[in-house]
Amino acid sequence: MPNDAVIKIEGKEYAFPMVLGSEGERAIDVRNLRAQTNCITYDDGFGNTGSCLSDITYIDGDAGILRYRGYPIEQLAEHSSFVETAYLIINGNLPTPKERRHFGDLLRDHSPVHADMGHIFEGFPIGSHPMAILSALLNSLGCYYPHLATNRPQEDLANFEEASAIAISKVRTIAAMSYRKSRGLPYIYPKRTLPYCENFLHMMFSQPYEDYVPTPEVASALNLFLLLHADHEQNCSTSTVRMVASSGANLFASTAAGVCALWGPLHGGANMAVIEMLASIHAEGDDGSKFIEAAKSGRGGHRLMGFGHRVYKNYDPRAKIIKASFEKALASLGIKDDPLLAIARRLEEAALKDEYFLSRKLYPNVDFYSGLIMRALGIPQNMFTVMFAIGRMPGWIAHWKEVASNPKNKIYRPRQVYVGPSKRDYVPMAQRKEG
Ligand code: CMC
Repeated sequence: MPNDAVIKIEGKEYAFPMVLGSEGERAIDVRNLRAQTNCITYDDGFGNTGSCLSDITYIDGDAGILRYRGYPIEQLAEHSSFVETAYLIINGNLPTPKERRHFGDLLRDHSPVHADMGHIFEGFPIGSHPMAILSALLNSLGCYYPHLATNRPQEDLANFEEASAIAISKVRTIAAMSYRKSRGLPYIYPKRTLPYCENFLHMMFSQPYEDYVPTPEVASALNLFLLLHADHEQNCSTSTVRMVASSGANLFASTAAGVCALWGPLHGGANMAVIEMLASIHAEGDDGSKFIEAAKSGRGGHRLMGFGHRVYKNYDPRAKIIKASFEKALASLGIKDDPLLAIARRLEEAALKDEYFLSRKLYPNVDFYSGLIMRALGIPQNMFTVMFAIGRMPGWIAHWKEVASNPKNKIYRPRQVYVGPSKRDYVPMAQRKEG
């Protein structure tokens, strides 16, 4: 492309090259901006900043499009499974039957955790939040597999297949163990014969004396939930993973950081916040209208959780799929009158007619209905964000690999505009005045 972006600063023009994405997305390449102009860009929240070139996931937020490696999310949701989609996201192509079998074998081989990890769990108090446990335990994998976590990207990449299988498989085992720990229940070991989702449900809900056997509808709803969360390009947690990876840190450390970033209520914690919001509306006997008014005024920090998205200025395509499959899942689970579902429907209907939400292009995002689905599957509330983390693991892994294998990788190190005090001299304690 020609140098067709011109920035004029104090009368002087500077030309910058344009970068064109494969779907026609245009970006101004400002990598030489500071060298040429002595200025930097200011972009609080990075809403206009392309932090990398990536070939993993494409989103068109205005049109409500999401594709993993070129495949529309609607097609994957209909035909694929979480494990196959994980393979696609990490390796770039759908697996052949042989590759799929090999990947499944790797996941099965790595499903148990090292027996010593049980001691780490013992150190956490009962009631610990499973997200804190998950992040700590994921990071600790580097201690059990030091040959996979050397912090020398070329060496770590040479063992990437094993490390990534460990991360995908064990995140599920650790998640289930953290739940059992939080309830004071004995741990349940994974079974080699069970597929990914069924094995997770087994580790969560079986008892030493009785197996939990999910219905096919429950397993397929979980599969869909995980698949829909598998990647979402440069969101807060994935950008965190990439930032940590850019320093050369290993896969386990980088994804553990992703778990921490995911925890907050504006990101992965929103699915839990939605249920809390619906429950409090229900408890107050509100039909949702009072809450909507509070969310519009921003009073008490209220927001309509599960609504709005930095990128989607249209209905989140994942929310559409979840909502459509929701009715089916509820019917198969025999759930008829969930009062929280009724409130959610009323909130959505009211918000989609309300000028405040329409003018700001605030539509339901994936979290609006996903919490209700998990509730219906019997997943406890404090595990909702952990479920998101299990689903997002393939995306984090693929992004870690993209950073680690980039021969031109640069450490992520944004600049800032300093607005603090100018230089001042140290004042000895005796001369400082109170108040
Ligand atoms: N309820 C009420 N008002 C809202 C909401 C909401 N959920 N979201 C945004 N707004 C308003 C906001 O107050 C602002 O209004 P004004 O222009 O008058 O100041 C305007 O819309 C733009 O909001 P913003 O905070 O500048 O937008 P953002 O792109 O920085 O934030 C968001 C995106 C997702 C953090 C935000 O929409 C939000 O807090 N939503 C609720 C939390 C949520 O559901 N998060 C899950 C996101 S999807 C899962 C994931 O990928 O992480």
